[in-house]
Amino acid sequence: MSTANWKVERLAGAIGAEIFGVDLSRPLDAAERAALRALWLEHGVIFFRDQPLSSAQFLAFAEGWGTPVEYPFVKGLADYPVIIEIKKLEHEKVNFGGVWHSDTAYLERPPMATLLLAREVPPYGSDTLFANQYLAYETLSEGMKKLLDGLDAVNTSAKADTTRTREDRLAEVGRSDAASQYEATHPVVRTHPETGRKALYVNYAHTARFAGMTEEESAPLLQWLFAHQKKEEFTCRFRWRVGSLALWDNRCTHHSPVNDYHGFRRVLHRITLAGDKPRR
Ligand code: SIN
Repeated sequence: MSTANWKVERLAGAIGAEIFGVDLSRPLDAAERAALRALWLEHGVIFFRDQPLSSAQFLAFAEGWGTPVEYPFVKGLADYPVIIEIKKLEHEKVNFGGVWHSDTAYLERPPMATLLLAREVPPYGSDTLFANQYLAYETLSEGMKKLLDGLDAVNTSAKADTTRTREDRLAEVGRSDAASQYEATHPVVRTHPETGRKALYVNYAHTARFAGMTEEESAPLLQWLFAHQKKEEFTCRFRWRVGSLALWDNRCTHHSPVNDYHGFRRVLHRITLAGDKPRR
């Protein structure tokens, strides 16, 4: 395989690209890995089609990208504890992670990246939306940037809308060793360690308040930021097929799965990769 045969198609103006001509079932060489990494850093999330990887192949690809870590609340597959199932069954109404977020921002070191591989998909619906948080920051006024550049925010795993999106899975495969709540304070604007660009780093699912302020004091500006950071012009929308694989950068993107397929089953396998402590 050579990168010369790859085809890159952007999904939207702001974020997301599909990469064709890559076979992820076999090891990538250094040049291929570097080329994919550059595309990923440029587009925030990259997608591949027709990758029916075994768990071992999926894990091997993930390990070539970073260090897989276990999800704090949900147990992984018996033989692959770092692979969790994102599952919504025919009778269920709640979808896992079904609000805009960056993954587990309530950890001291939130994950750098997440990989999601579709195993079973409904006949329609269940797309995932992604939003570019560099653009969310860069489109703010100079005054707002200056204000936010100096702020930290408290992120928690206990926001009600978020815990609701996990409840079915926790009943089935919840981890007994999970803390009851995780909380971490991070800069509201973080500098991406690889690109050097600044991105907005609050999110609807986890950010409860600005550090040093009450929730009530923080709410007006946070609500404004939550609405701003998911503006349509910052987003793309990905339609899943069995074997589709998405790889997103949690340091500069948000995502939200659309819950529009009640009565059908959807199963994806997910791996998250270790990240660093967010810095200004
Ligand atoms: C997630 O937040 O990891 C779930 C995304 C999805 O189900 O599309």
